[in-house]
Amino acid sequence: MITVSIANQKGGEGKTTTSLNLAIGLARRGKRTLIIDMDPQANSTGIFLNPETSSKNLYHVFNKKTKMSEVVQKVYADNLYLAPSSTNLAELEAMNTNSVEAPYLLRDSLQVVEKDFDFCIIDCPPSLSIFTINALVASNFVIIPLQAEKFSVDGIVGLQQTISSIKKRINPNLEIMGALITQLKPQTLLTKTIVPVLNKYFKIFENSISDGVAIGESHLAKKSVFDYNKSSRQAQEYEGFVEEFLSEL
Ligand SMILES: Nc1ncnc2c1ncn2[C@@H]1O[C@H](COP(=O)(O)OP(=O)(O)O)[C@@H](O)[C@H]1O
Ligand SMILES: [Mg+2]
Repeated sequence: MITVSIANQKGGEGKTTTSLNLAIGLARRGKRTLIIDMDPQANSTGIFLNPETSSKNLYHVFNKKTKMSEVVQKVYADNLYLAPSSTNLAELEAMNTNSVEAPYLLRDSLQVVEKDFDFCIIDCPPSLSIFTINALVASNFVIIPLQAEKFSVDGIVGLQQTISSIKKRINPNLEIMGALITQLKPQTLLTKTIVPVLNKYFKIFENSISDGVAIGESHLAKKSVFDYNKSSRQAQEYEGFVEEFLSEL
C-alpha cells in the first residue's frame, strides 16, 4: 500500500478536492483505494455519507482502539473505500498529544488494512496539529495543494519544516512528491511572479488545476469532477494530475 498525505495547514487550498479526485481517479483505474478523512470538519466524508449518522469512524479508532478494518466502508464506486471522520474527532485533536504513542496511532492502525489496498489517500485538516503529524508519519509521500497567492506562500515554510523534522526524526521514507497549484486564475502577473517563488521550495506538478465552477458544482452533486462533467477543463486537468502522480511512483 502506498500512502499519500494531501496536506497544507491553510484552509481552502484544495486538499479535500484533490484527495477526492485523486482517490476516485485511482479507483477508476482499477486501483484499490482507501480515503482517510483526518479532518474533523468531515468534508470528504460528507460527499459519501452523512457524518452525523455514520456509525463507526476514526474517532473510534483513535479513542477506543477499534480496528481500522471495522471502520472502513465501501463507498461511491468500485475499488473505493472510506475511513470516515466525525465532528467529535476534534476533541481528540487537543487530547493525547503528550503521550509517546500519539504520533503513531494512524500508522499503527493502518497495518491491518495494508494488504487490502493499493493506495491510501489521507485528506488532512487545515492545521499542523497531531492529526497532520499522524498522517505524515504514516505516509510515503506528501502532496501540497496550494493557490498561487501571497498568503499561500507565507505558510509553506512552516509546513516544510514540519515535514523535514518528521522525515529526520520519525519517518525517513517520507518524500514530498510536489505541490499542486489549484484554483489557478488565467495567467495574471501574480501567477507569473509566485510560481517561480514556489519552485524554490518544492517541485511543482506540471499539471495544475484552474479555477472553475465545475469543482464547486461537483461537490454539491456529491460526485467526482470526472463523473460530474468529464468534458470540463478541471476534469481534464485532474486526469492529467492523476497520470502525472502515477508516473512519479
Ligand atoms: N479548481 C477549483 N476551482 C474552483 N473552486 C475550487 C477549486 N478547487 C477548490 N475549490 C473550492 O475551494 C474551496 C476549498 O476547497 P477544498 O478542497 O475544500 O480545500 P481545503 O480542503 O484545503 O480546505 C471549496 O469550496 C471548493 O469547492
Ligand atoms: Mg478540506
